[in-house]
Amino acid sequence: MTPNVEKIPYEIQPGRLDVVRLVQVTDSHIFADPEGCLLGLNTRSSFEAICERVEREEWRPDALLATGDLSQDASAESYQYLADYFKDMDLPTFWLPGNHDNPETMDIYLSNNRVLQAKQLLIGKWQIILLDSSVRGKVHGSLNDEQLHFLERALKRYPDKHALVCLHHQPLDIGSHWLDQIGLKNADEFNQIIAQYPQVKGVLWGHIHQEFDRVKDGIHWLATPSSCVQFKPGSEDFSAGTEAPGYRYLNLFSDGRIESIVHRIDNMEFTVDYSIKGY
Ligand SMILES: [Fe+2]
Repeated sequence: MTPNVEKIPYEIQPGRLDVVRLVQVTDSHIFADPEGCLLGLNTRSSFEAICERVEREEWRPDALLATGDLSQDASAESYQYLADYFKDMDLPTFWLPGNHDNPETMDIYLSNNRVLQAKQLLIGKWQIILLDSSVRGKVHGSLNDEQLHFLERALKRYPDKHALVCLHHQPLDIGSHWLDQIGLKNADEFNQIIAQYPQVKGVLWGHIHQEFDRVKDGIHWLATPSSCVQFKPGSEDFSAGTEAPGYRYLNLFSDGRIESIVHRIDNMEFTVDYSIKGY
């Protein structure tokens, strides 16, 4: 679906005046089969454990961001499951596709009165932009001209709002050889646009199944653990990590500051098969 910045962007009133609170859940890799496992871990179980944790938090987020690889097999059943689950959480939920996803199938099934297709969200003093970096049939990412124009038009239109830009693939090297080969191929084009708009305060992604948190050029560059299995930081070749499933909270303050923290499901028993090579 073509993102259309000329349409009125989706607008939410934050629960508090001074801060927008978001939760990011990413790389859930849900299968059509409820018993589906990635590297031996049942992806529905860990996803549900995370969502239950989010629901138990005292401070309800203003919105949930689901940043790609939501499905492992791109099946209608996996998206229907996610749509139903997010609807039950009763939070405004926004999503973007990853390399394992099928954007067309997502458009059909990942949509209800709580799961929204909007790719431009205005909330308090902030604008959230969700980009599609998926390339059909490829693991790496790229932003096509339509996506780059969408980003630029959205930033141009709201110069007075701080911006958080979300996508699936990492727009910079993270120091892990195999993952750096499958990041955002045209990161230079993306970064050139970002550099022209000082209101961009954060870039947020998934894909790398590990925590990443760096401040560079006044921007927070943030990646978040998968809600299922992790990849080992710094590894040359594919390697699963031992860390627990995780998710991220973001506090976006009205003065443009970002505070963010990763939470993990430490009390969940899980048996990742570390002997499996490949992803
Ligand atoms: Fe991915």
